[in-house]
Amino acid sequence: MALQTRDLLAVGQVAERSGFATSALRFYERMGLIEATRTSAGQRRYQRNVLRRLAFIRAARNVGLSLDEVGDALSALPGGRPPSRADWERLSRSWKGRLDEQIRALTALRDGLDSCIGCGCLSLKNCGIQNPEDVVASRGPGAAYLPGPLRRPS
Ligand code: FES
Repeated sequence: MALQTRDLLAVGQVAERSGFATSALRFYERMGLIEATRTSAGQRRYQRNVLRRLAFIRAARNVGLSLDEVGDALSALPGGRPPSRADWERLSRSWKGRLDEQIRALTALRDGLDSCIGCGCLSLKNCGIQNPEDVVASRGPGAAYLPGPLRRPS
């Protein structure tokens, strides 16, 4: 089925609708995360379904996936046709474990930020009980009592 002109969006339209700066769109295109065709005048044109890919990229970045991980995930989508509902379902299934881990970590953070997190500050009264003399320093850098997903370098 041939694409209609109305199905193609200019870079400004994609930026406005997705909330990404045009520079970010060009960057994601260079990284192979999104695709654009060119008009005869060399202007970028995007298929409308690029908005879903961009929404996925934003959500993935917000839960801590690296751009390489985002690229791996998106590469599982079919080329040559817009992803179907089943394609997106398959992709989100592979994401579920990661999201569950993030939810557990954020819940632990919410419930534990008012007590010792093993950061080495020794500033709370109960640090003397949970981290006397900064004994958790031997575990390496970071707040040792925070869940792992919250201690990963960003
Ligand atoms: S909160 Fe920082 S060492 Fe306990």
